Amino acid sequence: MSDKKASNQMWGGRFASGPAAIMEAINASIGFDKKLHAQDIRGSIAHSQMLAETGIITEQDQEKIAHGLNTILKEIEDGKFEFSSRLEDIHMNVEARLAELIGPAAGRLHTARSRNDQVAVDFRLWVKDEFHRVAVALKGLIEVFLVRAEEHAATVMPGFTHMQTAQPVTFGHHCMAYVEMFSRDLSRVRDAIERMDESPLGAAALAGTGFPIDRFRTAKALGFREPTRNSLDSVSDRDFALEFLSIASICATHLSRLAEEIVIWSTPQFGFVRLSDSFSTGSSIMPQKKNPDAAELVRAKTGRVNGHLIGLLTVMKGLPLAYSKDMQEDKEAVFDAAETLDLMLAAMTGMMGDMTINDAAMKKAAGSGYSTATDLADWLVRTLGLPFREAHHVTGRAVALAESKKVGLEKLALEDLQSIHSGITADIFSVLSVQNSVKSRTSFGGTAPAEVRRQIRYWKKRIAKA
Ligand code: ARG
Repeated sequence: MSDKKASNQMWGGRFASGPAAIMEAINASIGFDKKLHAQDIRGSIAHSQMLAETGIITEQDQEKIAHGLNTILKEIEDGKFEFSSRLEDIHMNVEARLAELIGPAAGRLHTARSRNDQVAVDFRLWVKDEFHRVAVALKGLIEVFLVRAEEHAATVMPGFTHMQTAQPVTFGHHCMAYVEMFSRDLSRVRDAIERMDESPLGAAALAGTGFPIDRFRTAKALGFREPTRNSLDSVSDRDFALEFLSIASICATHLSRLAEEIVIWSTPQFGFVRLSDSFSTGSSIMPQKKNPDAAELVRAKTGRVNGHLIGLLTVMKGLPLAYSKDMQEDKEAVFDAAETLDLMLAAMTGMMGDMTINDAAMKKAAGSGYSTATDLADWLVRTLGLPFREAHHVTGRAVALAESKKVGLEKLALEDLQSIHSGITADIFSVLSVQNSVKSRTSFGGTAPAEVRRQIRYWKKRIAKA
């Protein structure tokens, strides 16, 4: 008797002994792919039904298989299933248990199928479900933004470029910028679902099969639009996972920008927003502090999601067709990115929904930094017919004068302004207030409250159907 381990009961026919411990450790994916158990069982039931319908296996065997698989599903859900890394992955763990439960009929399940198409279909089913979860979360976040935008369609705040005060905008307008961003994320999710909605099951190892299977039947049973069209591509394609990760990365990047703004807005220096107690933390040493930890973590977790995208792109690059075991590395990246993104979306939705907006602080800041200088220049163009370049120059002198007097533009005396350009009349003061500035920006997509409300109406309708 040797002390060699028995060879693998699924594929060990030609092996005299089992794998070295380290081989088992590097090879096994059960530690993470057990997450695919429901999809694996669903896929196997659909496959067995099709095998019976096409006469490849008997109805009796199919019934035993389906019954056994449902028992296994229950065992796993009840935490009673014993996963074994000797059996490598979820597919073989389930199949081995099926053999224990129903005997030889279990061996017929894998007819006209390989783990290569099995894992491809399981993983697609999982990613498709996750895409739907992300879509629901994105809609929830967008709806919160729409509510806040409506409340603050006319709340003036400074708009920034280079993080320097640029022109007044409204907080509602700022919120609607995020509605645009997250709506694009949502539309990317919808596009990706459409593109990945094909079943690879039946591609078998890589070349298809000689058995008279019906791939349209299994595709339909599993909720896919149709089967994939090329068996080689079916088992070597992970675009759906890459698309998930790239969409997640773009969305996380959007969330990180929002997170950064919340961090800035909630500083005592800005004081634009106040986070609720449920979405901030205290300091163990400085009693006055209220920290935006959730926002900071959303900002940070973006790195993790983006890292998974680069990770999987790097796994896939240079892989020859068709399946290679490298592809087993696809799952942890996607699982972790999905879990992280779900958390980020939920945290941001909560934070945006219940933070308090300090209208007065926003308005005060909006009026500083000569934010209505462009309005002054526009007035000179409109009223006095100056070319814009000249108006820009005249306005620059007005800003310099106001700066030397340490006052805002609207606090300059008419005579002072006339000393810069004689044509200026008292009418100019109507455009120097922040309120009038935003009100005047009525161009399509502009910051005027009326225009912001039009944007809100548009998105409310669209999101309801999205
Ligand atoms: N656990 C494997 C994976 O996730 C399943 C496919 C294995 N196929 C094979 N021919 N070894 O990729």
